[in-house]
Amino acid sequence: MYNEGQLRDRVRQLGAKISNDYSGRELILIGILKGSVIFMSDLVKQITIPCKLDFMAVSSYGNSTKSSGVVKILKDLDFEIQGKDVLIVEDIIDSGVTLKYLTKFLGARKPSSLEIVCLLNKPDRRKVDIDVKYIGYDVPDYFLVGFGLDYAEKYRNLPYIGILKDEIYK
Ligand code: IMP
Ligand code: MG
Repeated sequence: MYNEGQLRDRVRQLGAKISNDYSGRELILIGILKGSVIFMSDLVKQITIPCKLDFMAVSSYGNSTKSSGVVKILKDLDFEIQGKDVLIVEDIIDSGVTLKYLTKFLGARKPSSLEIVCLLNKPDRRKVDIDVKYIGYDVPDYFLVGFGLDYAEKYRNLPYIGILKDEIYK
């Protein structure tokens, strides 16, 4: 779906936009494990303002391609975020259930700002309304793998984003 060069260019644009928008401020980036790790590591290299990195782990889909709708916090933040500018980094937004829950959970800690950057967004799949400040690409409803995205924990290491083969014919 997207090759290495396309991803590099798009991530560079996102990094430049974020650096510009938060200019003169300090940012805490929160990566949602594990899918966001590849995107986040490329993105932070394109961010030119001071930033700190933190991570959260939440329950995933397990070995299925469909969301259970249940979100469980498996690892909380290391940093306090009260009064800080916070940017959640996510690989892909599908139903939006995960991020809806996380923004409420983190918002309760009173950061001075709380926004989301996601590489991929599936608008047709949205079940709950959420505000996403930065989106890499809007994508159709295929199950995507690579560049951090997995199917049953595999394919995260692909340097491009592909469509899971069975999904093409469904
Ligand atoms: P949501 O709560 O339904 O928005 O689910 C978001 C999470 O589901 C993402 O962080 C991914 O871990 C996973 N996910 C959703 N769609 C895909 C996909 O096409 N490929 C791989 N993982 C996906
Ligand atoms: Mg994820």
